[in-house]
Amino acid sequence: MTRVIEGSAPSKAIIVGEHFVVRDQPAIAAALNIRTYVKAKEHSHEYIRIISTNLGIDVKIDMRLSRKVPSDIVPFVRILEIIRERFDDLRPCLVIISSEIPVGSGMGSSASTFTAFTAAYLKFIDIEVSLDEISKIAYEAECIVHGKPSGIDNTITTYGGVIAYRKSEGFLRINAKLSEEYVWLIADTGVRRSTGDLVRKVLELYDKYVDIFMPLYHAAGHLAIEAGKALQNGDYVRLGELMNINQGMLSAIGVSTLQIEEIVYKARSSGALGAKLTGAGGGGAVLILAKRCDATKIKNAVRPYARQVLETNISPKGVEVKVIS
Ligand code: MEV
Repeated sequence: MTRVIEGSAPSKAIIVGEHFVVRDQPAIAAALNIRTYVKAKEHSHEYIRIISTNLGIDVKIDMRLSRKVPSDIVPFVRILEIIRERFDDLRPCLVIISSEIPVGSGMGSSASTFTAFTAAYLKFIDIEVSLDEISKIAYEAECIVHGKPSGIDNTITTYGGVIAYRKSEGFLRINAKLSEEYVWLIADTGVRRSTGDLVRKVLELYDKYVDIFMPLYHAAGHLAIEAGKALQNGDYVRLGELMNINQGMLSAIGVSTLQIEEIVYKARSSGALGAKLTGAGGGGAVLILAKRCDATKIKNAVRPYARQVLETNISPKGVEVKVIS
């Protein structure tokens, strides 16, 4: 029977602290129930073929791992190089990637894909590794796409649930008090942007205004700690307020846009407890926290400003892998 392995990983939302986390402030992130699926199937050819149904990619990687492939595929080649270096094994296969996550929306589509791919391929070649190893390999691929990311995206897509993350310290799991009374909405602006470019832009501004940015970054770090406590206590009103304050800080460092602000203010004036950009900004998605009873009103209010509005919830599950046949 043809061997088929399926890996999957969640998307992510940074609840508070994006960008500030790049300069070692804590941030809070949650995994969302919108996932990427990667199937690794045995085939009779001497290459690794990657098909992505969402991106319209169909590429063959030779077994010498030549980097003469489209730029979208280079991170996968990097993952395979690491696997070959570390485990001295590489086998041909057909990889089929399908994702529910809008690409370039700040929901961690790349981290989710690399995490699911790493887990699926390692299982395909019968290698058992820790979650930490999967996350570290996915991080190397993230570096190719985003420059020098903080590591929060690959960590949350690997471990799932809710985490507090700090670059120099790693992550702490947050025992969030989840409640059916509240929902998370994602309003996707439809504007795609490069995380690496936005991070560079913010860091340049930081270097120009160090005395102003430094206290702002410290305040953002304190805010993230407070947000973590609010999640632990199930205090969603406080969490929403902290998200709103964080949005003001993100606007101050130059990563909000008119469209983001329109969605944020429409959401808040329709009853949202909190609304802020999530991820790198410059477009991407707005994360909205609301009481379930207000969700329809908020969705209707923001829909004219967004490409799509999704209702989702926090996924306790991180990366998963199963043998299909
Ligand atoms: C991207 O999802 C989050 C940023 O903070 C970048 C990073 O953490 O590497 C903007």
